Amino acid sequence: MSKKKILVSGIKPTGKLHIGNYFGAMKQFIDLSDEYESYIFIADLHAITSVQDRKTLKQNILDVAIDYIAAGLDPKKTTIFLQSAVSAHTELAWIFNCITTMPYLMRAHAFKDAEAKNKEINVGVFDYPLLMAADILLYRPDVVPVGNDQKQHVEIARDTAEKFNRIFSKDVFKLPEPFILNHVGVVPGTDGQKMSKSHNNTIGLFDSDEEIKNSVMKIPTDSKDVHEPKDPDTCKVFALHKLFATESELLDLKLKYAEGKIGYKDSKELLTSYVSRFVTPLREKRTSVALDPEAVFDMLKKGNARAQKVAEGTLAEVKAAVGISLE
Ligand code: ADP
Ligand code: TRP
Repeated sequence: MSKKKILVSGIKPTGKLHIGNYFGAMKQFIDLSDEYESYIFIADLHAITSVQDRKTLKQNILDVAIDYIAAGLDPKKTTIFLQSAVSAHTELAWIFNCITTMPYLMRAHAFKDAEAKNKEINVGVFDYPLLMAADILLYRPDVVPVGNDQKQHVEIARDTAEKFNRIFSKDVFKLPEPFILNHVGVVPGTDGQKMSKSHNNTIGLFDSDEEIKNSVMKIPTDSKDVHEPKDPDTCKVFALHKLFATESELLDLKLKYAEGKIGYKDSKELLTSYVSRFVTPLREKRTSVALDPEAVFDMLKKGNARAQKVAEGTLAEVKAAVGISLE
């Protein structure tokens, strides 16, 4: 019997999910969840590096769990769990701390960005990639679907797996691959920069029609008037059309751009209707899932138990390889 390949990914509960999260990461793991044995978690331990308010974090955790289901993950097929409920993640991260050098972690983009902004950096931010390596490697996945900006973290997980196997002369870990849909790349936000919760430039995955319209109208364009030809490759409105329009709608729009037959205002109105068409059923599903938070917590508890079993199995092999086991 051929065993299914394994997939692992997570999202931090740091705020409302946006369409960048969806197309950059979530859509991949929803699409792949039939084909792969999937472990999808809420990265609450990673969120503590920035969210340090009990009420907010608890609400964010429930929100992400609801979002996962509303966006299409089926808890019957996918193990959905809370990272902090599986203590093997932090235990393994500590072991990784002991085989990793400071200069190596100092090369991580996220740390360098924080340093460049002169942010007060906590040890959790510095160590973030090793906790993420533990999240991944415990489940021995074949693929890790993430957005472009997380690619380096998956590479760090791969390096760490290789280093562990070498130091302890045992092939405990499988080397994971990132899974990034290249045509998606970085989804632009309403200011034309990368869409991000921290930039206040998002279109929410469950926004109302009114919110969608307001966000889309803010997207910056150049000053070409209606009849001038426009360049779809540099237009941020067009970049979003690519995610929401059907192939024929997109082709039609491309021609209109080239021939100067559409102005930015009309292009934005069209985009608003395409985004609403996509978001409306998700929003309706979300409203119905949110009616029963107890059922959502129950789902997480079941997922926690399943994840714990797998993670504990790997951790036992790790401990034996390191020499900290009495077995
Ligand atoms: P944010 O930047 O909004 O805080 P996160 O860092 O929580 O988002 O990212 C969650 C997932 O969504 C990651 O896999 C990330 O790569 C992906 N992602 C976030 N923003 C974008 C974007 N604008 N385009 C593509 N993928 C994105
Ligand atoms: N670092 C990821 C982010 O910021 C979230 C994350 C934590 C993750 N652990 C992971 C993603 C393991 C994939 C696999 O979006």
